[in-house]
Amino acid sequence: MSLIFRCPVNAEFKQRHNKLFCEQVESDSCYGNYRELKFFLHKYCKATDRILTGCQPTSGGKSLFIEDLYDAGFHSVVGVDSSEKIISTSKERNKENRPEIQFIAAKGFKIDAEADGFNVLIDRGELDMIHEKQSSFELFDFAQHFEAAQRLLKVGGRYICFSFATTDVLDQLLVYFSSGWFFRVHMLNTELSDGKLLPLPFFCFILTKTKSAGLSSQPLQIIEVCLDGTESIQRLNCFSEVRTNLQEIQQYFITRKSLEKLRPQQHLTIDLYLSSGGHKQRSEPRYSLTTVDIQPSLAKNGKFAIFIVPQGRETEWLFSSKDGQTKLSTNAGFERVVIVTLGRGHAFTDMDAIKGELSTKVMELAPRRLSRNAQVPFLSIGEDLGNRVVLYEGNSQLSGDYVVEDVDGDGGQKFRRLIFLNNKNVVQSEARLVTDKTNVKKGKGKQSAKVVNNSSPRVDHGYLACQHHRVIVTGLAWIEGFCTTGENKKSLIVGLGGGGLAMFLYQYFKQLSIEVVELDPSISEIAKSWFEFKEDDRMQVIIEDGLKYIRSKESAPRYDVIIFDVDSKDTSVGMSCPPQAFVDRAFLRQVHSLLSPSGVFVLNLVCRNTSLREQVVSDLRAVFPELYTIGIEGEVNEIVIALPQLRYQANCEEKKSLDALKNLFDNSVMKLQKFAKSQSHSWDSTLDLCQLVQKVQIV
Ligand SMILES: C[S@@+](CC[C@H](N)C(=O)[O-])C[C@H]1O[C@@H](n2cnc3c(N)ncnc32)[C@H](O)[C@@H]1O
Repeated sequence: MSLIFRCPVNAEFKQRHNKLFCEQVESDSCYGNYRELKFFLHKYCKATDRILTGCQPTSGGKSLFIEDLYDAGFHSVVGVDSSEKIISTSKERNKENRPEIQFIAAKGFKIDAEADGFNVLIDRGELDMIHEKQSSFELFDFAQHFEAAQRLLKVGGRYICFSFATTDVLDQLLVYFSSGWFFRVHMLNTELSDGKLLPLPFFCFILTKTKSAGLSSQPLQIIEVCLDGTESIQRLNCFSEVRTNLQEIQQYFITRKSLEKLRPQQHLTIDLYLSSGGHKQRSEPRYSLTTVDIQPSLAKNGKFAIFIVPQGRETEWLFSSKDGQTKLSTNAGFERVVIVTLGRGHAFTDMDAIKGELSTKVMELAPRRLSRNAQVPFLSIGEDLGNRVVLYEGNSQLSGDYVVEDVDGDGGQKFRRLIFLNNKNVVQSEARLVTDKTNVKKGKGKQSAKVVNNSSPRVDHGYLACQHHRVIVTGLAWIEGFCTTGENKKSLIVGLGGGGLAMFLYQYFKQLSIEVVELDPSISEIAKSWFEFKEDDRMQVIIEDGLKYIRSKESAPRYDVIIFDVDSKDTSVGMSCPPQAFVDRAFLRQVHSLLSPSGVFVLNLVCRNTSLREQVVSDLRAVFPELYTIGIEGEVNEIVIALPQLRYQANCEEKKSLDALKNLFDNSVMKLQKFAKSQSHSWDSTLDLCQLVQKVQIV
């Protein structure tokens, strides 16, 4: 199985690639010598072929490439060079030992081909060098050069072009050879025979002339790439796929350079793909590798280690957040740790197989001073690879690609998750699964009676898998008289997800009617199909933008509790929950106006940007006179509890004394939990609301 690193092409790609090419590609040696290119030469040239190539020396300058070709048995070779001097010395040094080589002085391919033309043209970097030497690139007429190649080649002949494929060169190749040519590209090994590593990926284009070369219509267009050197050739559908395939690999080489200056806290994630297989297999990363450096003084155990995250655990704080990853690497005690998560949609057998697949590739990410033969330790949590089964893959116009998957948790528990793939390490919704042990008896009479164990898993709505949902529930304790008056209460939740929070509230608080506003219609379908979410008189889903829905309501106290559990699709602002407009001061005033004076507003806030968080808190404070937050250990989430008017603090002598207020909260939360337990027999013993509220802070 061959693997290849690829990175999405960014805006500076062309400039950075050109710069690296000009700085680091030395004229001839980078293009390999006969030995290094042998595989391709023998695969695409026959000994009897008439071959035209340049007259450059190979690395070390001891021989000319054309001389090596001749010595390897290709005798019908013609060397071309624009310098009369090179041509005459080449003629001179070969006239006795290699009498059949012909040398011609000409620029590029501007020679008069003899009637029968050539079978092969070999370009060992000439095209790239022409590019490099042009001060103004436009000066070089690619079309003229390629037309000459077309003229010189026989039908069925091959133009074999070794190139670093800078953007302009690649574009020109893709345009010219898209009419009447079979197009194939191999990526070559970037390690030269002297052990030197090439700074950029290097390609061999095999462009085969067909009868329709140069004509706009072609009966059969064949486009192929082989990204693992020689092993497996993939058919592509169009030329833009060739560009993407090649440039994503080039981008990886550029991105990898930043590893040389990586600082602690500057984690870098790069994806590793299969280079062959079906389209889906090749387009989803098999592994994602996050490189984390720590201060060398903290590295007690060595320079470099690999940490494999078991499947299903990649969303945990330790593996998915920057702070978690730094903690993991610091605890591991290595200067550089590469944290590897395993791609969805790929099968993995065991830890040993993973080590086997990765051991060579990870060396590309090793610190510079590490010897290439160093033994690199692989770390993980035990030998267990974890279990994650994708049940459904879908796409929603609003949320993008998503998956519903089942994962194994601790102690044999199973969980179902909804993940949006644009944020693949964040769980949008999670539910615990329980196996229904209803035994169904079939058949008549004792003899034929058969016990069937109906073991299909069910969603356990009595269990809140997300810690922040547990804390949100404590928010109900702030509603005045919630458990004591026996009155019906009204709630509004923005953000349905799998509907776990709504279903929990439904089950344990029967006095509550629930409106859930959800932006994305497909999410409501997912909740119903995969998370057993149900609507009835007490539970209603409204498909609409929560912002619009709330703005459209006339100001009047209509809800006893409003909960925002709504994610933001904009990853650039540093606040993943809620979208910024939901905490705009004017909008918060509207939220306030919809709350009953005895009610509560509960907000799931996930904000990494400290100044933005301060702004959000100050807007909340301007609207809600009494404000609390409850932090969640190991998570960025915090739950904000906002009261529409002074309540506890009005009655408490020491208004801002947390100790005094806490007694009141403890009391209310205790009552809430007692009430909830009385409503259903299946209270989850791990859910202790009183414990969760201990972290409350006055804001
Ligand atoms: C984290 S999930 C909610 C999880 C949910 N409370 C549960 O119990 O699993 C966030 C939800 O907010 C929804 N959402 C995002 N923007 C929204 C908006 N402007 N209005 C309403 N819903 C929105 C998303 O589609 C997603 O279903």
